[in-house]
Amino acid sequence: MALLKTNKVIYCLGNISPSLGVLSTRNSSWWGGVQMGPPDPILGVSEAFKRDTNPKKMNLGVGAYRDDEGKPFVLSCVRKAEAIITAKQMDKEYLGIGGLAEFSKSCAQLAFGADNEALNRSITVQTISGTGSLRIGANFLARFHGGPRDVYLPKPSWGNHTPIFRDGGMQLKAYRYYDPSSCGFDFKGALDDISKIPEHSVIMLHACAHNPTGVDPKPEQWKEISDIVKKRNLLVFFDMAYQGFASGDIDRDAWAVRYFIEQGHNILLSQSFAKNMGLYGERVGGFTVVCNDTEEAKRVESQLKILIRPIYSNPPMNGARIAATILNTPDLRSLWLEEVHGMANRIIKMREQLAAGLKNEGSSHNWQHVIDQIGMFCFTGLKPEQVERLTKEFSVYMTKDGRISMAGVTSGNVGYLAHGIHAVTK
Ligand code: LMR
Repeated sequence: MALLKTNKVIYCLGNISPSLGVLSTRNSSWWGGVQMGPPDPILGVSEAFKRDTNPKKMNLGVGAYRDDEGKPFVLSCVRKAEAIITAKQMDKEYLGIGGLAEFSKSCAQLAFGADNEALNRSITVQTISGTGSLRIGANFLARFHGGPRDVYLPKPSWGNHTPIFRDGGMQLKAYRYYDPSSCGFDFKGALDDISKIPEHSVIMLHACAHNPTGVDPKPEQWKEISDIVKKRNLLVFFDMAYQGFASGDIDRDAWAVRYFIEQGHNILLSQSFAKNMGLYGERVGGFTVVCNDTEEAKRVESQLKILIRPIYSNPPMNGARIAATILNTPDLRSLWLEEVHGMANRIIKMREQLAAGLKNEGSSHNWQHVIDQIGMFCFTGLKPEQVERLTKEFSVYMTKDGRISMAGVTSGNVGYLAHGIHAVTK
């Protein structure tokens, strides 16, 4: 038996006694050159949170709704839909490549409104939640979009947008969106930047409850954005991960998407049911392409299938069945609308209590943006060193950019959070 030494590992030919300290007949490492990567900026926060033993710790990193006891919340409409599905004893055959047809249909109807004429000239495929939808969209753009490879993201945008589009073969550019001085929308900056985007580029718009800032354009501002986007002849990609979660009203939250379609934009749309139905781990989403006519939609559908098949063949069925059952069973749909409303309201209440708590602590800063911002996240304006102190001294976990998930704040811990934020900002 011979021992061979390379510059990376020692390996042996033939068996060697474990007592010698070198185990079995392993090959030389194929992966010696792989560098340790950093933890995910959002999901990595949860890992650090889990390691903390402080009983007062708070995880305000990942956007996942909690009830007022701080517990993960499974919607009653979901439990009821699950019972209906179980009772039906359905088979577990493969879904089609584009997923469950009744889900895809209801998914697009939810976004566009049930009577929207654009439904007849669009194609929706079921995807692996919002991330999967965006990635299929990125791959589709890279393969078929005749224009520049550039996707313009708002600055800042959801942390995962950049790797999704980059790995999908697109190039990332940005337009101004957030104004740190007001913790609000930089409308002028956005219009200015959008008006200079080269024609036929792709622009990403967050339909509602912008992640990470919680700052949305007002309807009048959306109208101007639509005009300028049309003038520049840009391809609009809407990401709608929070329909119902922003205002508590699914139609109000879909207003921008519907307005753009009405104005003649043939948009791309990503949808997720992670937040509004609490179906996080079920990975339920949709990707829609609005086309010129039915025939074009059929061609696009054929190519989406060709894209999807070698990636994951066809999507999982359970979550799509749950979502479709809720959307298509009148009682469950009404219950769902109530529950979405309830979740959105609890978050709005927490925003008010946090701002009030900061005032009670004696903070001299203006925290109005905590109330004005909308949806799951609050972009606090905390600097990275303040975030670090909040985590170190108070075990409050959040992303480094100062974003907190308001969904993790409860009546029980909002006072502690206000105390901590005041301590690191005074
Ligand atoms: C978030 O932004 O926290 C959520 O969208 C969850 C995720 O996957 O990043």
